[in-house]
Amino acid sequence: MNSKLIAPSILAADFGNLQRDVEMVNNSDADWFHIDVMDGHFVPNISYGMPVIQAIKKHATKPLDVHLMIEKPERYIEEFVKVGANIITVHYESTVHLHRTLTQIENAGCKAGVVLNLTTPVSVLEDILPKCFMVLLMSINPGFGGQKFEDITYNRVKKLRKMVDERGLNTRIEIDGGVTNKNIKALVEAGADTFVAGSYIFKSENQTATIKDLRALANS
Ligand code: DX5
Ligand code: ZN
Repeated sequence: MNSKLIAPSILAADFGNLQRDVEMVNNSDADWFHIDVMDGHFVPNISYGMPVIQAIKKHATKPLDVHLMIEKPERYIEEFVKVGANIITVHYESTVHLHRTLTQIENAGCKAGVVLNLTTPVSVLEDILPKCFMVLLMSINPGFGGQKFEDITYNRVKKLRKMVDERGLNTRIEIDGGVTNKNIKALVEAGADTFVAGSYIFKSENQTATIKDLRALANS
């Protein structure tokens, strides 16, 4: 059984006070920084790229989990590694030669993972699973923070958990979108072990306490 990890999503941070928010995560019970890169093509929104990741890396004391929501991510893997990515996940729907892209990530010195959009069947992972450090299941349509968690996710997690266990793998199962104190425990019960949370953490009054609570709930 993998340990449960919390990855606050920097997309919901205050960009005018980025160093402050990075330090908040450093000094909290969080495990990773989740960093969403959006290109305005793969998803209908544009977020940030290498210079901002480099600025985060300068202050971060925890691994950077970089979620690429961009078309043809293979064009930029080495650059994301250079600015400090530790884990890179690419969407199944964004790259034609998935196996090659994961190998590229590994060769660049990073842990590699695959992301599935909300309704891409988990069965497409069958052959790539042994190569995945992690699978990220979107629990919203990607592109924006603050959306409502979609309940179809529970069944998808259960199916993926079965696939991982049947193969004797220890692939992490990460959930991204609308994660709160209301659904994290049920997600753990379904088989997930890694949780992204953006607005739920950054919009709360006491962010470190919110992270602590999420972690405690995931481990209860
Ligand atoms: C959306 C991003 C998420 C987002 C989650 O496409 O992948 O990481 O920041 O934000 P919340 O937790 O607010 O749904
Ligand atoms: Zn994300």
